[in-house]
Amino acid sequence: QESLTEEARRILRANDRGGFTIPTAGLYPFQWLWDAGFTALGWMQFDEGRAWQELETLFLGQWPNGMLPHIVFHRPEPTYFPGPERWGVTRTPPTSAITQPPVVATFVRWMLEQAQNQAQAEAKARSLYPKMLAYHRWFKRERDPENTGLITVLHPWETGADNSPAWDEALARVEVDPALPPYIRRDTAHVDPTQRPHQSEYDRFLTLLEVYKRAGFDQLRLLRECPFRVASLLIDCVLHRANRDLLWLSRRLGFADEAEIEGWLEASQRGIESLWDEEAGLYFNRDLRSGAAIRVGVSASFLPLYAGTSSPQRALRLLRTLEGWARQVRYLVPSTDPYSPRFEPQRYWRGPVWAVVNYLIALGFADYGYPEMALRIRQDTLKLCEMTGFSEYFHPLTGQGLGGGTFSWTAAIYLAWGQ
Ligand code: DGY
Repeated sequence: QESLTEEARRILRANDRGGFTIPTAGLYPFQWLWDAGFTALGWMQFDEGRAWQELETLFLGQWPNGMLPHIVFHRPEPTYFPGPERWGVTRTPPTSAITQPPVVATFVRWMLEQAQNQAQAEAKARSLYPKMLAYHRWFKRERDPENTGLITVLHPWETGADNSPAWDEALARVEVDPALPPYIRRDTAHVDPTQRPHQSEYDRFLTLLEVYKRAGFDQLRLLRECPFRVASLLIDCVLHRANRDLLWLSRRLGFADEAEIEGWLEASQRGIESLWDEEAGLYFNRDLRSGAAIRVGVSASFLPLYAGTSSPQRALRLLRTLEGWARQVRYLVPSTDPYSPRFEPQRYWRGPVWAVVNYLIALGFADYGYPEMALRIRQDTLKLCEMTGFSEYFHPLTGQGLGGGTFSWTAAIYLAWGQ
């Protein structure tokens, strides 16, 4: 569809703030980590130089310890909360103090593989490589120092799936700080509150920021003291695949980090597969304070296929599970198991379909030899964009566009996938 492709490009151009692309005006007016990754894939389809610039600009926010923050506040914007003052990170540019699914190394590999301008791509990948390595070393050193193979996640925002029912119990155990400085939410001024997290969740999201500040952002201390600690399939699976691709880049570009990266992969292969639940035919997230599996199916439960850690037997079980979900909804993949009592088809990560997660899940099914399921997920995603435009997320029963509109990463997926 020529006109929709043009519309998707127009959205990226309109959301371009000069070197970085905001997810959407008003609701998300800065640069977000995993949004930037997907958006670069979109730019890659029509402006390679701009695609590489997206990632270079993102890394301007990298911390000296290697951490890549989930938001870079390149310039002041009053329409979003919590902004840089609330995070209290005194750096230039200001940033948040947590991370997000580390898609970048995988996407750099793909961008290098598909680039028309190979000389440019190789130079860009070469200069990004040490920064990505430093980021992945940070994960290992500061979020899995005991080599369990699973990363400790300290905030629902780090998982990308902020209000997923997977975090309900772990978040409920975070006691709201009685001295929590007052605040005014901005998100519900932009989007219908029935499509956003509850106030009780926001109070806890904000309480966690105070915990980090009191700990001086010391990660090893937070691994012991943070009241919210989970293993998230979104982080672990995306990181596992990113490490496979970092390994590929290390060989391709002639760096010599193979042994170190292979060691991480062995551990995370074990870690992710330990999240398998034979009875449910799914992978579950884990609560790392209690050690218990979080037995609610979510879209990330299929991501071990994208990571590539699953056995063929487990992949077939996942296919059957998703076929079951498909009998409950019109559009795949709902972010929460539609059979779960916690399924809410319009509320953010509690049910709606997200184009970016669909992209990763479909790749996983294709990798494991299930092209029909991959095609179904792709067609559903494109159809949703065609029916209701480039929304932040979509209602899995009606296809209604939800959340923010003119959304960069949805437009980017349409470009990367629609061609
Ligand atoms: C938000 O503000 O809702 C974001 O998801 C946090 O990164």
